Amino acid sequence: LPVPPMSIRFDQAAGTLSPAGPELTRRMSDLEGLFLDQNAWRTAVADGDPIVYSVVSSLVPEADRELPQSITTIQPGSTGGEFWMTKGHQHPNHQGEIYLGISGRGGLLMFDGTDTRWVDMTPGTIGYIPPGWAHRSVNVGGKPYSFLAVYPGGAGHDYGWVLEYGLGQRVWRQDDGVAFGGYFAEAS
Ligand code: PA5
Ligand code: NI
Repeated sequence: LPVPPMSIRFDQAAGTLSPAGPELTRRMSDLEGLFLDQNAWRTAVADGDPIVYSVVSSLVPEADRELPQSITTIQPGSTGGEFWMTKGHQHPNHQGEIYLGISGRGGLLMFDGTDTRWVDMTPGTIGYIPPGWAHRSVNVGGKPYSFLAVYPGGAGHDYGWVLEYGLGQRVWRQDDGVAFGGYFAEAS
C-alpha cells in the first residue's frame, strides 16, 4: 500500500529510522559462499555465528514509483583476512541507487560484469551506483560502518548474480589498510 507524505526521523548517532519496518539481521551463516576462505567462514559460523550487518528500512514500500530508503550498519571484522561485507546484489532491472556515508569507514565495490570500481565511503560521501552495476559494501575500519541507501522501489535484489559472477575484486585487510585482489580463487 502507498504511504502518505510523511516525516521520517533519522537519528544520526543511533543510525536508526523512525518509524521503521522490521530490522533485517545478517549473521555469518547467512553469508555462505561469499568469503574466499570457506574454512574460515565455517569456523566463524561455529564460533558464535556473529551478526555481520543489519538493515533498517522506513515504511516506504518496495514498489514501482516509490522511493524507499534504508540504513545498513556493518560491524567491523574480517574472515580469513577479508573485510566484513554485505552479500551484494544486482538490481534485476538495472536501476541506479545512491548511498550516503553516515559513520565509520567503508567502501562501495561495484562491478558491471567487466570493470570494477571502488568508492571510499566516509561520513558525508555520496556514492553513486549507476544502472547495471552490481554493488557490495565493505567495512574497512575498526568501528561500525553505517550508510543510508535510497533506491527505486521496483529495483529488486538479485543475490544469485553475485554468487555467479562475483564483484570483480575482493577487499583484504592489510597492516596499513586495504588491499584488493582477484575475486575467484587462483589456482596455486
Ligand atoms: O539497497 C541496497 O543496495 C542496500 O540497502 C542493501 O540492500 C543493504 O546494504 C544490504 O546489502 P545486501 O542487500 O547486498 O545484503
Ligand atoms: Ni541495491
